[in-house]
Amino acid sequence: MSAHENTQIDGGIPNHVAIIMDGNGRWAKKRGLPRIAGHHKGVEMVREIIKACSAKGIGYLTLFAFSSENWRRPEREVTLLMDLFLSALEQEVKKLHKNNIKFRVVGDTKAFGDRIVHKIEEAERLTRNNTGLTVLVAANYGGRWDISQACAQIALKVKSGEIDPDTITPETIQSFLSLHDIPDPDLFIRSGGEQRISNFLLWQLAYSELYFTDTLWPDFGAQEFDDALASYSQRQRRFGLTGEQVETLKHA
Ligand code: IPE
Ligand code: IPE
Ligand code: MG
Repeated sequence: MSAHENTQIDGGIPNHVAIIMDGNGRWAKKRGLPRIAGHHKGVEMVREIIKACSAKGIGYLTLFAFSSENWRRPEREVTLLMDLFLSALEQEVKKLHKNNIKFRVVGDTKAFGDRIVHKIEEAERLTRNNTGLTVLVAANYGGRWDISQACAQIALKVKSGEIDPDTITPETIQSFLSLHDIPDPDLFIRSGGEQRISNFLLWQLAYSELYFTDTLWPDFGAQEFDDALASYSQRQRRFGLTGEQVETLKHA
C-alpha cells in the first residue's frame, strides 16, 4: 500500500484518527488527587471521543492506552491501570457492540494477566462483524516492538523458503504489522503538551498530520476534538507531490 492508496488526499473528515491520551497524572496532581483519579476521568473522555467519532462517520480510532515503556512506572500505578483496563473492558464492551463498533486491541497482550487476555478475545469476537467505527486500543504497544515482531515473522518465512529476501518491500513489512489491515492514520493527536511520538505508531505515522495540544487528556472533550478536526481540514497533504499536483488530483 502506498501513501496514496492508503490515506486520503483531500482534507475533510479524517478516516483514521490516532491519539496519544496524555496528561492524566498532571490533571489529577493539579487537583490534589491521586494519579489514578486522572486515569478514571480519562476513561470518561474516551467514551466521549468514541461517541464523537461514531457520530462523524470516522472509520478508525486508535487510542494509546499503555505503552511498552509504561511498565517502568511504580508498581502500584501499573496494577491500578490494569484493574482499570479490565473494568473498562467489562463495562464498555456491550455498549460498543450495541453501537455497531468493532473493537480490537493491538500490542503484546501476552504480558497481561489471563483475565484481561480472555476479556480482550471475547470483546474482539463479539464485535468482529460490526460495520461502524473500528476502535483500536494500543496496549503494551510500542512502534519498535511492532516492527521487530514483523521482522521476526518475515525472518521465519525466509528461513522456511516462503519469502525470498530479494522481494521484501515496505508492503511486505506492512503486511506483518499489527495494523496490517488498517489504513494509516490521517490525523495524529497528542494531548498533554508534549510534542513527541513516545514510540507510538512509528511506521504508520509516516504521512499523518500531527496535532499537539496543551489540554490534558481528562479535559479533552468534544469541543477540543472539533478543534483538532478543524485544524486537519485546513491542511494540504502532499505525500511528496507539489501543491499544484495535489490541486489537480483533487479536481480530477
Ligand atoms: C497518560 O497519562 C496515560 C498513560 C500513560 C497510561 P499520564 O499518566 O502519562 O499523565 P502525565 O503525563 O503523567 O500527566
Ligand atoms: C505515552 O504517554 C503513552 C500513553 C499515553 C499510553 P507517556 O506519558 O508514557 O509518554 P512520555 O513518557 O511522556 O514520553
Ligand atoms: Mg504522560
